[in-house]
Amino acid sequence: MRDLIRIMGVARHLWPYYLTIVVTSLAVAGTNLLTPLIIKMATDIVVGGAGGQNVDLSPVVWLAVALLGAEVANTVLTNVGGYVGDVMTVRLRSTLSDRYYAKLLSLPQRYFDNELTGTVINRLTRSITEITNFLNVFANNFFQMVLTLLASLAITAFYSWPIAVLLAVIYPLFMWLTTITSARWQRLEAEKNREFDIAGGRFAEVIGQIRVVKSFVQERRELDVFGNRYRTTIQTTRTQSRFWHLMDIARRGVLNLIFFGIFAVIFTQTAKGAFTVGVMVLLIQLVNLARQPVFAMSFIVDASQKAMAGSRDYFAVMAEPSEREELPPVPAAAAHTDGSAGVDFKSVCFGYEGGGNVLCDVTFSIAPGERVAIVGESGGGKTTLVSLLLGLYAPDSGMISIDGASLDDLSLDGVRSRVGVVFQDPSLFSGTIRENIAYGAPEATPEQVIEAAHSANAHGFIERFAAGYDSEIGERGIKLSGGQKQRIAVARAILKNAPILILDEATSSLDSKSERLVQQGLDRLMAGRTTLIIAHRLSTISSVDRIVTIKDGRVDEIGTPDELAATGGIYAELLSLQASATKKDRKRLHQFDILA
Ligand SMILES: Nc1ncnc2c1ncn2[C@@H]1O[C@H](COP(=O)(O)OP(=O)(O)O)[C@@H](O)[C@H]1O
Ligand SMILES: [Mg+2]
Repeated sequence: MRDLIRIMGVARHLWPYYLTIVVTSLAVAGTNLLTPLIIKMATDIVVGGAGGQNVDLSPVVWLAVALLGAEVANTVLTNVGGYVGDVMTVRLRSTLSDRYYAKLLSLPQRYFDNELTGTVINRLTRSITEITNFLNVFANNFFQMVLTLLASLAITAFYSWPIAVLLAVIYPLFMWLTTITSARWQRLEAEKNREFDIAGGRFAEVIGQIRVVKSFVQERRELDVFGNRYRTTIQTTRTQSRFWHLMDIARRGVLNLIFFGIFAVIFTQTAKGAFTVGVMVLLIQLVNLARQPVFAMSFIVDASQKAMAGSRDYFAVMAEPSEREELPPVPAAAAHTDGSAGVDFKSVCFGYEGGGNVLCDVTFSIAPGERVAIVGESGGGKTTLVSLLLGLYAPDSGMISIDGASLDDLSLDGVRSRVGVVFQDPSLFSGTIRENIAYGAPEATPEQVIEAAHSANAHGFIERFAAGYDSEIGERGIKLSGGQKQRIAVARAILKNAPILILDEATSSLDSKSERLVQQGLDRLMAGRTTLIIAHRLSTISSVDRIVTIKDGRVDEIGTPDELAATGGIYAELLSLQASATKKDRKRLHQFDILA
């Protein structure tokens, strides 16, 4: 319940909608109450002046007109309320979705390491649908329900207090029976949602990598796994629904008994002459009117149960701690005039959640404009080093700084906007080539985009597409070859124009021809920038200013390629392995992600 109140708080700004809905629903309730009163008056007139020749018909005609008026007003008001309700729902939906998306975008990388995309999307859709649905049902029914109830109770009490008491008893009883149903119902609902979310997560992953699924001929198995999740929910739903409906039979049974009592009183009292026929007609209508809120109430309770389950998921995500709060951007004084910047790692230790240390006591620095290669075994923590520099994870101890300013004192946006990265996986988006190249610089002119593509050796192949820069490349760039994708990624990094550049095995998934083309692009990209290179070719590594070798999570050696070639360390070993032609030595090279 607290969560539902929080939701109302989140959507506070929608108060004009709430107010309009409350006012119209109260007016609807008012017109509902007019009908029985008018019919009572007509009944009394008709019964009183039964069937004479010269009866004045005008009062009953006017009452019929009044009835028409009440019903037309009712129709109009209901539809106005419905319209406002629709708009409120969609605005609420938009607010809740925006906040959820904003929250997700602000969560640290750690969160996404443990969540499937589809699960996150599934949860969002369900929570928000159920929350908005509840608010819509609530706004449209609750106030109307309360007013109808109070008014019919008051009018009934005026004529007969026993009937009023019987009517009044229904509500708490019904509420109580519904509430005891709720706990079990919700537990089962949460169970179902867990299955839906897992199935949805796998679904999105499978569709996203459909090529792999097809190539391994695993469609049937994926379908089975998916189907099994849903089949589990069928059983849960059976249990849940059986329980709900048995409880509903009990609730309605109680209701039927009470209504039996009410009608028994009305009929006997009228027969005894205590009520006029008009009063009897009025009471029957009021009792029927008071029956509606009971059902509205179960409707509301039902929607609120779903909404409570949904909002719990919603607020669980909203309660996740975001990446640290934004700090002022990098001080202008810290930026070098030539556009490059220095990087320092000081005694950095880091391990992923639930694992041991990946890096420990890592200390090295890169001077502005310098090119440094990181060499270490596969799984040795090279990419982790990159993630730390990007601020995707925070070191457990030690300090990373850019131009002498600690990452802790810089805004994450500031850090990331100063670092350009080309990963092994180009990670493009659906859309056009132009959009992808300009992803980090949407304000770039067409000329700048072309210039970047030229530098990245991409202009040639782009021009050969019929639509050129406006060619759609499909999800993750599926319509491009690996080398083409990577050249687009290089052009994207060129246009970002960041002073620090990281190349994390940027060419390692490419064939040698594409690699040469991409490497030329990378060479142009590196010019004048501080560069951290994790390369898979020794030739690339041998051309850097200095090499940092990592062994067992620690810095082993630092020196120029010439110096390290003579020390007998990892680099020297790699050089001798490369010179050797034995199978064993080749294998050893692969452990360093190095291509011989
Ligand atoms: N997101 C992650 N969560 C948990 N462990 C990870 C994650 N990413 C990498 N690792 C682990 O950290 C170690 C270093 O990985 P990585 O930095 O990618 O190595 P490299 O790039 O040198 O090949 C590996 O043992 C890997 O299993
Ligand atoms: Mg790596």
